[in-house]
Amino acid sequence: MSDLLEVLEVRKYPDPVLKKISQPVEVFDEELEKFIKQLFEAMRVHDGVGLAAPQVGVLKKVAVIEYEDKSYVLINPKIIDRKGLQTSEEGCISFPGIFAEVTRSDWVKVETQDTKGNVKILEAQGYLAKAFQHEMDHLNGKLFIDYLSSIKRNAIKKKISKHTGGHF
Ligand code: NI
Repeated sequence: MSDLLEVLEVRKYPDPVLKKISQPVEVFDEELEKFIKQLFEAMRVHDGVGLAAPQVGVLKKVAVIEYEDKSYVLINPKIIDRKGLQTSEEGCISFPGIFAEVTRSDWVKVETQDTKGNVKILEAQGYLAKAFQHEMDHLNGKLFIDYLSSIKRNAIKKKISKHTGGHF
């Protein structure tokens, strides 16, 4: 099989697509499997732990995660249980060079679908739980900077607008 897939371009903040709500996946076909391979590829190119479809401009409820040599595919995921809290530094491929402390649940149970549409239950704790929550937020147009105080968020926005050379 050919591995010559087009490398998807990752959208950077403040691209408006990052604030949009994704639509559920209804068709589980080869196109979906190909798209998931492309998501993994784009994630690896950027040395990321996770990547969500809106970050490549596709408003579908699909995200991928790779952590400790294990791959996870989230399709139409929802959190059905959560426990505890954790606070740690977080970054995002759509925010190069930006990191901030975010508090999230320490453990989550997620109902998701696989590439065939079968319902799966996944549990994650600690760092992996954080990744799950971060990627699932992307599917609802929520970004990690949305958890910060407006002072911290504005400082980040200012830093980014300097790097991108203004509002063109
Ligand atoms: Ni992200």
